[in-house]
Amino acid sequence: MKTMPLLEVTDLHVHLPTRRGWAAVLRGISFTLECGDTLGLIGESGSGKSMAALALMGLLPDGARTSGSLRLNGQELLGLPDKALCQIRGQRIAMVFQEPMTALNPLHRIGHQVAEPLRLHRGLSARAAKQEALALLDRVGIADAARRIDAYPHQFSGGQRQRITIAMALACGPEVLIADEPTTALDVTLQQQILDLLAELVTERQMALLLISHDLGVMARQVRRLLVMYGGSVVESGPTAEIFQTLAHPYTRGLWAARPRWGVSYPPGPRPPLPTIAGSVPDLLDLPAGCPFAGRCAFTAQACYTTVPPPTLLADGHVVRCLRLDAIAAIDKNKK
Ligand SMILES: Nc1ncnc2c1ncn2[C@@H]1O[C@H](COP(=O)(O)OP(=O)(O)OP(=O)(O)O)[C@@H](O)[C@H]1O
Ligand SMILES: [Mg+2]
Repeated sequence: MKTMPLLEVTDLHVHLPTRRGWAAVLRGISFTLECGDTLGLIGESGSGKSMAALALMGLLPDGARTSGSLRLNGQELLGLPDKALCQIRGQRIAMVFQEPMTALNPLHRIGHQVAEPLRLHRGLSARAAKQEALALLDRVGIADAARRIDAYPHQFSGGQRQRITIAMALACGPEVLIADEPTTALDVTLQQQILDLLAELVTERQMALLLISHDLGVMARQVRRLLVMYGGSVVESGPTAEIFQTLAHPYTRGLWAARPRWGVSYPPGPRPPLPTIAGSVPDLLDLPAGCPFAGRCAFTAQACYTTVPPPTLLADGHVVRCLRLDAIAAIDKNKK
C-alpha cells in the first residue's frame, strides 16, 4: 500500500501582479518530502526558490494567484483561510530566514521571543514556556543560556542570532523545517556550524528539511535530493550525488562550471574571471513558450523555444527536462 507523503507539492503555479502584468514566478513545481528527509532547492538568483518556500508557508506577497496542490499529511493548504494557515505556520511548518534580524524583534528579549510561540500555540504557562525556551536555546548551542535569556538580539553575534532563530523555529516541534539561505549572512567558519546543527536536528527530531542555497558545495554535503530551479520551473531533480555526477541538464552544468572553487592556485598576474553562465535569467513576464533556459543554452535548437521539455527519467528518481539530451550525449561522446 502506498503511504501518504508528509509534504506533497503538485503542479504548483504562482503568479504575482507587477506594474507590467502578471509575473509567472512558479511554473508547475512538483515534489514530495518525507519525515527525516532532506531536499535542496538550487538555482540562480530570481529562479523562484524563495517563492516556493513562501508558498509553503502561506506567506506569498499580496495579490498572488496560486494553483495546483500543496498537501501536508494529505491536507490541502492552498486556499486555506488565514486563521487555519496560522495554525500550521510555525507549528507544523517553520522557516529559518537568511538574515536573522528579519525573524528577531530587536526590541524584545530573546527568551521572550522563543517562549512566545510556546505560550500562543502550545498553551504553556509563562514559567513552563521559559523553561522550554531555555532548553531550546541550550540545544542550539547558546552558551550560558540561563544567564543570557534576558538579553536583546543586538547583544549576540550573527551566528548566535541565527541559532536563536533556529530555536524559535523549533519551538512548536514542526514537521517541516524550511531554511532559506540560512548561512549566507554569516562568515565561512560559522556557516558549517549552523549547517551541522540543522543536520543534527533533522536526524534527532525526524523533521523534513527543505534547504535553499545557491552553493553547490553546501547542497552536496547537506541534502539527499535536489531540485534544480530555473525561471520558476524545476529543470532537473533527483538524488544529489547522481545529479552532480551526471550533470545532465545544460543549466546544471552551467551552475557546476561557475561554482567558486577553494584552493585553486593561479599563475602570477591578473586572476582569470570566474566562469559564469552567459546571458541573464529570463524575464518572468515574457518567458519562452518552451524551455525556460532556451536562448541561454549552448545546445538550443529551434524546438526548445516552442516545446516544453517533457520529463525524462534517467535513473531511479532522477528526472531531467531537456529536449537535447541525446544531442548532448553525442557531443560528449565525441569529445572523449
Ligand atoms: N513582490 C513581488 N512582486 C513581483 N515579483 C516578485 C516579487 N518578489 C519577487 N518577485 C520575482 O519573483 C522571482 C523569483 O524570486 P525569488 O525571490 O523566489 O528568487 P530566488 O530564487 O529566491 O532568488 P535569490 O537567490 O536572489 O534569493 C524573481 O524574478 C523576483 O523578481
Ligand atoms: Mg531567495
